[in-house]
Amino acid sequence: MTPVPRRREAFTLSDERLERADRIIARYPGKLAAILPILWLVTEEKGWISPEAMEWVAAKLDCSPAKVQAVVTFYTMFDDHPVGKYKLQVCRTLSCELMGARRIVDHLRERLGIELGQTTGDGMFTLQEVECLASCGTAPMMQCNLKFYEHLTPDRVDALLDELESREPEWEDVEPVIWDRPSDDAYRAMFPESGKALRRERTGGAEVEEL
Ligand code: FES
Repeated sequence: MTPVPRRREAFTLSDERLERADRIIARYPGKLAAILPILWLVTEEKGWISPEAMEWVAAKLDCSPAKVQAVVTFYTMFDDHPVGKYKLQVCRTLSCELMGARRIVDHLRERLGIELGQTTGDGMFTLQEVECLASCGTAPMMQCNLKFYEHLTPDRVDALLDELESREPEWEDVEPVIWDRPSDDAYRAMFPESGKALRRERTGGAEVEEL
């Protein structure tokens, strides 16, 4: 099927965000240095950074749209296509992987009925995997918009999604939520196959009894 071309939509920030943008730009010796916080304001305003928004940022910062696009496409925190109201980014790097990130992603896929990179039909959630977010000591963790949620378990993910479904995103609230370390039983429940897999490896792939 031939993709339908997207209609161009004029972009500008709200008056309040425009004022914030001007205050931010004034803090830097050169306008381009303000590109990351300005792109955050655009994300707050629209949820993603459209080609028109990139042109707007380029004009505001006296640079080329290609430069803005290069920044937007480099960082996983920005999106050049529409995403859900809440963007769930699960860390997939070593500490999180070892502590159950795969189980968390599988749980999110099942609960939301989407695959990685997709958005739910109601436009509420987008699911992504990202590299280390520097909270390795409280793995597994994920970032939801700008906020970190740490020491995740499937039950905690469920409670969080229930809460998010009932409210609007709060962009100013970036205080991380660090739950208590999950119990050993909770960890074990996230790796139901690990004992069997290890023994299967040691027995050259032969079937093994449940441990
Ligand atoms: S490995 Fe996940 S936060 Fe560092």
